[in-house]
Amino acid sequence: MRHRVLLDVDTGRDDALALMFAVLHPDIEIRAITCVEGNTGLENVVSNTLKILDLLDAPPIPVALGARRPLIEPPRDASWIHGVTGLGDVELPVSAREPEQIHAVELMRRSILDSGTPLTIVALGPMTNIALLLRTHPEVSDRIGRIIFMGGSATIGNATPVAEFNFWHDPESAHIVLTSGIPLTMYGWDLLWSIKTSTPQIAELQASSNPIREVAGRLLGFEASDPSNGAKVLYNCIGDAGTLCVLVAPELYDIVRWPVQLVLAAGPARGQTLVDRRAIPGEDSVHDVAGDVPVIEVVGAARNAQILALFFDTLGEA
Ligand code: RIB
Ligand code: CA
Repeated sequence: MRHRVLLDVDTGRDDALALMFAVLHPDIEIRAITCVEGNTGLENVVSNTLKILDLLDAPPIPVALGARRPLIEPPRDASWIHGVTGLGDVELPVSAREPEQIHAVELMRRSILDSGTPLTIVALGPMTNIALLLRTHPEVSDRIGRIIFMGGSATIGNATPVAEFNFWHDPESAHIVLTSGIPLTMYGWDLLWSIKTSTPQIAELQASSNPIREVAGRLLGFEASDPSNGAKVLYNCIGDAGTLCVLVAPELYDIVRWPVQLVLAAGPARGQTLVDRRAIPGEDSVHDVAGDVPVIEVVGAARNAQILALFFDTLGEA
């Protein structure tokens, strides 16, 4: 079955890996790509996205610019981990591709209405564009088949001890999507962080004569520096690409439906997702103070080795 998708990205290193997987995998049909500020500034996101599409010799896919900052928070990028351009130390030729002259929200609206079969939105960055779509064009909500997103976490955070970057970056937008009533699948940081490539695998990619594999190796092997002490930080997960793996190979994951809510209040927990995995009710529901919490699909344990094999095989011949 081919999945008709719209990708919303903040192309950074792992969004680039996700673009590779999405363009190359035969079961994915990309209808459009929308760009949002997140890992890096919007101009970098668009430029990086177009460069990766060139590297892949991708067909002409409409790409549009979206939000330049979150709804409430200021832009707080992740350039320390993704590099000043967002692609680590990878330098690619400037693309001759041009983004659409319409805003990302309009491209989303048109793509959803033109899709025929319900479109799957794959959200790989802060959810600002999607929140703006739902608030600007609520009439398209029931034409969205599903939103599968890299965001939140059932346990540890990365941006903070408990909050994942995409949800921490724009909590209000994430809340709008979580409470939209649209079928949702959450691919959280706790699972993403567990699917890591190895140093030999990265070295093999970097030595490949296949330019796509070589660039993937450099994206995975880029050594960021901890701003506080200069220590080297290796973000060697396939990251956002794992979200696409869930789409094409759900049998490699345990997917369970849980109540999920997000903390908006200012303070150390802002942006945290509360995944309620209790087996029995608690006093919050017994005393009717729990509120109406959306129940969504949460991707749990994964067959990591098979997922990595799926990713590497999809990148093409070594
Ligand atoms: O927390 C990880 C997520 O934030 C990934 O999507 C990464 O690309 C950044 O957007
Ligand atoms: Ca991302």
